[in-house]
Amino acid sequence: MNSRFSAILFAGIGLISFTSSAQVSEKVENILRKMTVEEKVGQMTQLTLGPFVDMNVKDKMVLKKDELRKTLVDFHIGSVLNNAQDHAQTLAEWHEIIRTVQDAATKGTRLGIPVLYGVDAIHGATYLKDSPLFPQQLGIACSRNTVLAKEMGRMAAMSTRATGIRWNFAPVLDVARSPLWSRFPETFGESTCLVKTLGKANIEGAQEKGLGDYRSVAACMKHFLGYSAANTGKDRTSAFIADHVLRDVFLPPFWEAVKAGARTVMINSGDINGVPVHASSYVMKDLLRKELGFTGIAVSDWEDIIKLRTRHHVAETDKEAVFQSINAGLDMSMVPYSTSFCTLLLELVKEGRISEARLDESVRRILTVKMELGLFENAYPEPAAFKNAYPAEAPALCLEAARQSLVLLKNEASVLPLKMGSKILVAGPAADNMPSLSGSWSYSWQGNDPIWYPKDALTILGGLRKIAGDANVRYLPGCDFAGKLTTPVSEIIKTAELSDAIVVCLGEEAYAEIPGNINDLNLPLNQKTLLRSLAATGKPVILVLAEGRPRLITDVSSLPAAILLAPQPGTKGGEAIAEAIFGKFNPSGKLAFTYPANPHDLLTYDAPVTDVLPENNDTKQALYRPLFPFGHGLSYTTFSHSGFSVSGNEMKSQGDSLTVKITVTNSGKMEGREVLDLFIRDEVASLVPAWRKHIAFGSAQLKAGESKDVSFTIRSSDLEITSANGKRIVEPGYFQVFLNGQEHRFLVKP
Ligand code: BGC
Repeated sequence: MNSRFSAILFAGIGLISFTSSAQVSEKVENILRKMTVEEKVGQMTQLTLGPFVDMNVKDKMVLKKDELRKTLVDFHIGSVLNNAQDHAQTLAEWHEIIRTVQDAATKGTRLGIPVLYGVDAIHGATYLKDSPLFPQQLGIACSRNTVLAKEMGRMAAMSTRATGIRWNFAPVLDVARSPLWSRFPETFGESTCLVKTLGKANIEGAQEKGLGDYRSVAACMKHFLGYSAANTGKDRTSAFIADHVLRDVFLPPFWEAVKAGARTVMINSGDINGVPVHASSYVMKDLLRKELGFTGIAVSDWEDIIKLRTRHHVAETDKEAVFQSINAGLDMSMVPYSTSFCTLLLELVKEGRISEARLDESVRRILTVKMELGLFENAYPEPAAFKNAYPAEAPALCLEAARQSLVLLKNEASVLPLKMGSKILVAGPAADNMPSLSGSWSYSWQGNDPIWYPKDALTILGGLRKIAGDANVRYLPGCDFAGKLTTPVSEIIKTAELSDAIVVCLGEEAYAEIPGNINDLNLPLNQKTLLRSLAATGKPVILVLAEGRPRLITDVSSLPAAILLAPQPGTKGGEAIAEAIFGKFNPSGKLAFTYPANPHDLLTYDAPVTDVLPENNDTKQALYRPLFPFGHGLSYTTFSHSGFSVSGNEMKSQGDSLTVKITVTNSGKMEGREVLDLFIRDEVASLVPAWRKHIAFGSAQLKAGESKDVSFTIRSSDLEITSANGKRIVEPGYFQVFLNGQEHRFLVKP
């Protein structure tokens, strides 16, 4: 449900009424008519809470209430974001914040327009103390589970709304490209199909009951557009993206999200082809408004108007930066530290450089979303929502999502699962470390401070002790994340000799955005040295990789008998990993990205055919040679596949479809879930086609010996590409479809 009808629940009373979009629009116009220019400019301003909190007081939250009230009232501020002390807060603290903010806005100002408060609840309620967290989106993508993507959105929405906040800056709809990128784990991976399907599900979960309902929040699709494609792989650096790639790879998830009812969007902090996106009317008007038909709020990212001057060097002054961005179509500035935006925009209106009608466009959108969220009826935390702060089903869902996110990359001689009763040595910097399991936006922005994690969250070591029993587990960290040795090698070897197997947990600590930039994709050398020393003992080594991006391990990948990838599985990750190691469940995750073998060979699975095929065009010599390809993932059971069929050899270029079927049999001894990815390739196109395009995925949960059919649909729309003149078309000719090693050729007719 979106702008058409919004269910508005009067908090505490339980009375539901429905407001049509015509009524909303009439109310919005009524308010707009009464507003001064100052009030309009204020609505377009978003400030962060930080400066209004006494940071000198550490043990409790002290709001500088008078200062906060005065700023909100004097500048008619429309929106506030963020937590108080850069860490999670209690429900009571959140209620105090929201009440203070809404008191100022609704009682202190002439028109009483409520504030739209926003927060990043990316994989659960990031800033609500002790809230369990799901895997990062990358882990959800490895699960290929649309239901989990939806539940993650729904749970985050329920908890967030319970805090009194109705706007979540999620989901991330950037399509992963460079594995160096520090926000790689925040994405649903490198397939546009995964990003759009899981993103849509997430939004449906977040907004399931309608924005006015006390169980929903407004989702924010971000970051529009092409944020993940920076050339250097570093956060917020320049991207060069051909128009057909922009439209074919990066745009579809936003297109789906708009159709799913997303009412807000956050703009990409980077620049594309030399134009900062915050100053790009092509992206913010032509693509977002005209092509996608988006009618909601476009908010800037952090300080990004000012950065047109300070970082992108396209504006000489902050005022010029405001002019460029508002002119290009932005609605709200996440300033976020000062009221400079209000002053400068006001000056621009007074000087006649920006018209009041232009402000009206943005304010109209802002007021409409506020109204849809029910803020005009009741801007305060809704008592009916309080019981949802910690939804009873959330811990179990987080655990299930953590399990399904794990990818078994290697399992020689079925070393896993370990037998119960095995004695194990647990080593490595990630073994007893929560942040490496949960990543960014985990109780703090960087997620790297263990003290804010729930006391009952288990690390991998904690999980192993719980499952295997303390007496069977010995622990020596060996080295820290940078690779500095913390335990003498001789001691590690002595302990290893007393064990049946070694579980070595390597990887990365938590990071977000620019602080997470790296210059080397290799796993730090001494972490690999630790692995080498452990492997030299001759004991079977199980490598757990706790990481949010594929850190290169090619030179040591032959050493461990098993490799289990934990792509930031969240606060239940430790338990899930331990369960997987001891066979309490059967891993089923598949890589949602390519695991490269070499630092300068970073092809994605959908690279242009020119990059993948050698000059003789021999597909058997394809140059997509990662350590593990997109879609790779093993199981403790075996699956056999039969009866591959495609419903025809031809289809029309519009409104047609083919059905692909395969029968999957669990031919092993343990129950398991088989995930399948379907790919196509356009044999000849007017622009160089992709080597493969992932267009669908499916799965079957199978008991030992059981068989099921899995079917997929290829729609003509799945074959669409953007032509050189910017038109979306399906080009007639031959295509191939690939499923689990089987392939079929079909002809698309005009
Ligand atoms: C990030 C956004 C986030 C915003 C608000 C920015 O630094 O890029 O993804 O929503 O901060 O916290």
